[in-house]
Amino acid sequence: MRDDRRSSARILIVDDQEANVRLLESMLRRAGGYTNLTSTTNSAEVFSLYAEVAPDLILLDLHMPDPDGFAVMERLKSLIPATTYLPIVVVTADITAEAKQRALLAGAKDFLTKPFDQTEVLLRIGNLLETRFLHLQLYETAERRLRHMRALHEIDAAIIGSTDPRVLLSVFLERAAVELQVDAAAILLYNRQAQTLDCAARHGFRTAALQHTHLRLGEGYAGRAASERRLVSNPSIAVDPGEFRRAPLLAAEGFAAYYSVPLITKGTITGVLEIFHRARLVPDAEWLEFLDGLAGGLAIAIENAALFDDLQRSHSQLALAYDTTLEGWCRTLDLRDGETEGHTRRVTETCLRLARALGMTGEDLGHLRRGALLHDIGKMAVPDRILLKPGPLTDEEQEVMHRHAMTAFDLLSPIAYLRPALDVPYCHHEKWDGTGYPRGLAGEQIPLAARIFAVADVWDALRSDRPYRHAWTDEQAGAYIAEQSGKHFDPRVVRTFLDLIVRAA
Ligand code: C2E
Ligand code: SIN
Ligand code: SIN
Ligand code: FE
Ligand code: FE
Repeated sequence: MRDDRRSSARILIVDDQEANVRLLESMLRRAGGYTNLTSTTNSAEVFSLYAEVAPDLILLDLHMPDPDGFAVMERLKSLIPATTYLPIVVVTADITAEAKQRALLAGAKDFLTKPFDQTEVLLRIGNLLETRFLHLQLYETAERRLRHMRALHEIDAAIIGSTDPRVLLSVFLERAAVELQVDAAAILLYNRQAQTLDCAARHGFRTAALQHTHLRLGEGYAGRAASERRLVSNPSIAVDPGEFRRAPLLAAEGFAAYYSVPLITKGTITGVLEIFHRARLVPDAEWLEFLDGLAGGLAIAIENAALFDDLQRSHSQLALAYDTTLEGWCRTLDLRDGETEGHTRRVTETCLRLARALGMTGEDLGHLRRGALLHDIGKMAVPDRILLKPGPLTDEEQEVMHRHAMTAFDLLSPIAYLRPALDVPYCHHEKWDGTGYPRGLAGEQIPLAARIFAVADVWDALRSDRPYRHAWTDEQAGAYIAEQSGKHFDPRVVRTFLDLIVRAA
C-alpha cells in the first residue's frame, strides 16, 4: 500500500476520557504520521461523526456512559454497508475473555489494551488500514467490471432498439466516453465504394476537427489501425502530433492522448473507433479489454445498421413505385369525372396545407396525401350515365353514387401499404352533424384526415364546372363553407381554412 494513502486515512477516536484521546492522537500524529484525525469524548456523537467524516478506521473505548462501546457497535452495524470493510478497534484497560467475545460478535476487528504500546498500536492500525484499502480497491474493481458489463449490455439493447443509424452512433459515443472516462471519441466508417474511412459521428469535440476526415487504408493512425487490424495509439500527441500534423484544428482541441481501434465483423473492416483524451491516459489491461468489447459491439451494430439501411432503401423505392402508380390512377379518375384541370391534385395540395396548419406532421401527412389522391377511386364503380349525368340525381342514382366511399374501402383495404391512407377515401363524405355517408359518423368520430379533406374537396368541387352545374365563384364557395361550419364541417377546420385559404384567395 502506498504510504500517502495510509497517512491520509481518516481515523475516528472515541473515548470518554480526555487523556486517552490526547494520548492516542499524539501517538498517531507524531509517530504514525496520520493527519486526518477526528475525536470525541461523547459516545452519542459517533453516529453523526461517522456520517460526516466517513472514517477508514474507528478507535472505540468499551466502558463509556450510555451508549457504551457495545451499543455503539450495534448501532453502527446498521449504518455500515455490508460490502464495506470498516475496522473497529476496541480500546480497553482490562478485558475478560467473555467481553472480548461479545466485542468480536458486535463487530470489533482488533483490540488495544491500555496502557498503550506505541509500536503495537501503530502496527495493528497500519495492518487494518491496509486490509481496508485492499477491500475498497477490490470492491471498486468489481463494481467497475459490473458497470462495464452493464454498459455493454445497455449499448447492445440501444442498438437493437434503434432504427436510425446516426442516433445509434451518437448514443454509442456518448456512453463509451463516459465508461472509458475519456473526453472525446469519433467513429469513422469504411466506405466500400470510395475505399476511405469517413467520419460518421463525433462526441466531445470543441471544434470541427476531423469532421471531414476521409482516410485511405494505411493512411494516418486510423487508416493504419484498419489496415493493420490492431490498436494504434499515440499516448502523447500533445508533445508529438505524429500523423496528426496535417490536422490543424486538432491542435486547438488540446488532446494529450489518442487511441484507435479497428471495427471488424466477420473478418471485414467496417470502420474505426477513435478515442481522445485531454490529459495523460494510463490504460490498464481492464480498460483495454473494455475498449475491445465496445469496439466489438459497435462493429456488429454497424453491420446491422447497414443491413437496415438496405431494407430502408428498398422500402422507399417500393413506396416511390407505389406513389407513381397512384398518381397515374388519379389522373385517369379525374379524366373520367370530366375533370381536365386536376381537381385531385389541387384538392391534395390544399388538404396538405390545411393539415400542416392544423399541426399534422410526419407520416400522417404521407398517409393523408395518398388518401387524398385516391379519395374518389370508388367512382370507378359508378356507371357513366350516373357520374356524367347533366342534371340532379334520382334517389336511386344517388344511392349508387354514395356507394363510392364503401367501394374505396373494399378496393384499398387489402393493400397493406395503403391501409393507413384509408381514412380519406372511406370517410370523406361523413358530416360533422352525423348526416353524411357511408356510416353516418359524427364529430370527432370522423377521422381528422377526413374532416380536413372534406373542406378541401367541397371548396374545389364547388369552384369547378360539373355536368350538372356551373362553377361557383370563390366568394360563393367560401360563404358556403363558412355557413356549413358545425353542420357539414368541423368548425375548427373551417376556422383554419378561412384564415389560410379563403382570406388569401
Ligand atoms: P364532387 O362533385 O367531387 O363533389 C364533392 C362534394 O362537394 C359533394 O359530395 C358535395 O358535398 C359538395 N358539392 C359538390 N357540388 C355541390 C353543389 O352543387 N352543391 C352543394 N351544396 N354541394 C356540392 P356529395 O354530395 O356526396 O357528392 C359526391 C359526388 O356525387 C360528387 O363529387 C359528384 O361526383 C356526384 N354528384 C353529387 N351531386 C350530383 C348531381 O346532382 N348530379 C350528378 N351528376 N352528380 C352528382
Ligand atoms: C480533418 O478533417 O480535420 C483532418 C483529417 C485528418 O487528417 O485526420
Ligand atoms: C486519424 O487517425 O483520424 C487521422 C490521422 C491523420 O490522418 O492525421
Ligand atoms: Fe367523393
Ligand atoms: Fe372530390
